[in-house]
Amino acid sequence: MRSLKRSEPRSPPEQYGLGFHRSERAVSGFETAFFSGARQHAFFFESGRGESMSANLEAFLAALAAVQDEGCGAFRDAQQASDVEAARIRFLGAKSGAFKEIEKQFAEIEKSEKRIAGMKLNEVKTALKAALDTALAAVQGEQGGARSGTFDMTVPGVELSMGHVHPITQTIDHLKEIMGRMGFEAAEGPEVEDPWHNFVALNIPEDHPARDPLDNFYLSTARVIGGEGPLSEVHRTEPMNYLLRSQTSTVQIRVMESRRPPIRVISLGRVYRPDAPDATHYPMFHQMEGLMVDAGVTMANLKTVLRVFANNYLGSDVQIRFRPSFFPFTEPSVEVDFWWNGGWIEFGGAGMVDPAVLTAVGYDPQEVTGFAFGLGVERLCMRRHGITDIRDLYSGDLRFLNQF
Ligand code: PHE
Repeated sequence: MRSLKRSEPRSPPEQYGLGFHRSERAVSGFETAFFSGARQHAFFFESGRGESMSANLEAFLAALAAVQDEGCGAFRDAQQASDVEAARIRFLGAKSGAFKEIEKQFAEIEKSEKRIAGMKLNEVKTALKAALDTALAAVQGEQGGARSGTFDMTVPGVELSMGHVHPITQTIDHLKEIMGRMGFEAAEGPEVEDPWHNFVALNIPEDHPARDPLDNFYLSTARVIGGEGPLSEVHRTEPMNYLLRSQTSTVQIRVMESRRPPIRVISLGRVYRPDAPDATHYPMFHQMEGLMVDAGVTMANLKTVLRVFANNYLGSDVQIRFRPSFFPFTEPSVEVDFWWNGGWIEFGGAGMVDPAVLTAVGYDPQEVTGFAFGLGVERLCMRRHGITDIRDLYSGDLRFLNQF
């Protein structure tokens, strides 16, 4: 073990292979301490066996103490973020920061002295990092206006992560915009409906299979179980049979009940059916209902409106086809197919408003006629964007949603 009695004259540390080089920059305190062989910094370390430390270790410890003093002072004095960063590079820089330079000399420390040298090394590193953190917190607080002082406008801001509109809502906005250009205004109706608007006024009688409890979400079960509330008496005597609407055609009735022709509305919203979820079904989905009522409205108007809509939303080469069908509230009724990407795809139903419906809302079928259509919003959105599984739209998975 190379040891040196404290009384002996000390040599510059270079002699022991510590290899510090004076750089061009001003000689700082820790360097002075180092090169003066720790003469100003008296580190008295006695090992357990009473031996004094080597000059090598002494110089090492002195340099550490000096870098701690000077580094912590620099962090404490930092006024703004750029000061903190400059001090960080100078004292804690990973390549040639002052601390790193000393750390490199650790290899030269005598084996028996490595423990104490290592301990001090860690202690100083921790102290410098703590001073850095405190300084950072202080200048950041200042940026936020917590402390008065200079505002450093060169410090990069904190990036906010903004959410964005869900693809279905984007689709709804887009559809409203297209239909709006053809003079259709948006109307809304409730999602919890009574049987009159969901069925009766739409010419769907009591015994119609569309009213089957297995094909609808009735709320009545919940009401009955709900027991003694004020509604339960009403319910027992006169079943209310409210349900989650199974179609947006309910809004046709609500609009016609409250307005006189001419009418040109669309209604976009959620509908509910007890379907097991798979790639193309979900118990909740959206429809776009369209309704136009006026003197002399014909099936040709219906086809034109739907074709113009499809050309705007899916592409100018999209063609439209009607297939005969049946809905209780339209006569005649059709299924609406669009020719798109090499195949006919069904997008919904449509037809001329049944005279019975016009009568139910108090219109005279001799005076006015109308058309109505209902298209699946998810289906439109999925076709346009190449989405193959409806469940992706409702999984809440940001990896999917962020693509829109
Ligand atoms: N409401 C029908 C459905 O949900 C679609 C439709 C709307 C058909 C309007 C004709 C007229 O299937």
